[in-house]
Amino acid sequence: MPQTIAVASGKGGVGKTFLACTVGQALREGGLGVLLVDADLGLANVDIQLGIDPPLDLFAVLRRGVPLAEAVLHHAPTGLDIVAGRSGSGSLAALEPSRLERLLVELRLISASYDFVLLDLPAGIDSACRSFAAAAGTTLVVTTEEPTALTDAYAFIKVACRPDRPVGIVVNFAKSESQGRQTYETLARACERFLGRRPFLAGIVRRDPRVAEAIRAQKPFLSRYPQSTAAADLRTLARALSGLATMEPRATPKAAI
Ligand SMILES: Nc1ncnc2c1ncn2[C@@H]1O[C@H](COP(=O)(O)OP(=O)(O)OP(=O)(O)O)[C@@H](O)[C@H]1O
Ligand SMILES: [Mg+2]
Repeated sequence: MPQTIAVASGKGGVGKTFLACTVGQALREGGLGVLLVDADLGLANVDIQLGIDPPLDLFAVLRRGVPLAEAVLHHAPTGLDIVAGRSGSGSLAALEPSRLERLLVELRLISASYDFVLLDLPAGIDSACRSFAAAAGTTLVVTTEEPTALTDAYAFIKVACRPDRPVGIVVNFAKSESQGRQTYETLARACERFLGRRPFLAGIVRRDPRVAEAIRAQKPFLSRYPQSTAAADLRTLARALSGLATMEPRATPKAAI
């Protein structure tokens, strides 16, 4: 059974796309099959962050009836299979529910060939976001330690997360592991007190200037900065998701002497 994971947030710009691409790459390093779907039609970013120019995308699936399977492209540098979005093609919220439903059915069908399906959602709590979150087995809600991001993460969990599905929190842009943990505790306690549920701590990713550098260069983060602090944090997160004992980069075979 594939694990379908929605990467979501209340507030925008907290690092969902970066996390989805990089966790995906880390899972691939561990030998797992990963499909990454850019479900953000309004401000799609996976293609930009990875520097790809997809011939087909989610827009073609939703507007031109192209089968979802045909819109999957293989990205050799990361090993990811990707369904790209398309910026400016209108938000998923504006879609007729029947089209979204068809997309989710197709997604379930193609998911069977993967270990993980990662859905990079747009920020916010509109109905399409909620449908994607509902279709996923697990939702990772990304926040930073800023009060606005925390409040919006809480609102997302309250409105968009089904009580019967696991919700994990990822604290991104953390100043340190311990500050990240405090941020998690603040949010988890509010959820416990007012929603009667305690989301699990999925991971803490420290602020790292090399993230912006990799995105500027449109290069996959783990390839560009494999030894960075954020890379270590993302591998830990991927390891926690997969339950694998190790998620280290595969050793490059030495040239025969
Ligand atoms: N751990 C980090 N350290 C430093 N910078 C980061 C980190 N994570 C993300 N960023 C920066 O934050 C910016 C926003 O990231 P990203 O586009 O992935 O956010 P998003 O949540 O997907 O945004 P949107 O809501 O618009 O889809 C990126 O330009 C990236 O450089
Ligand atoms: Mg994004």
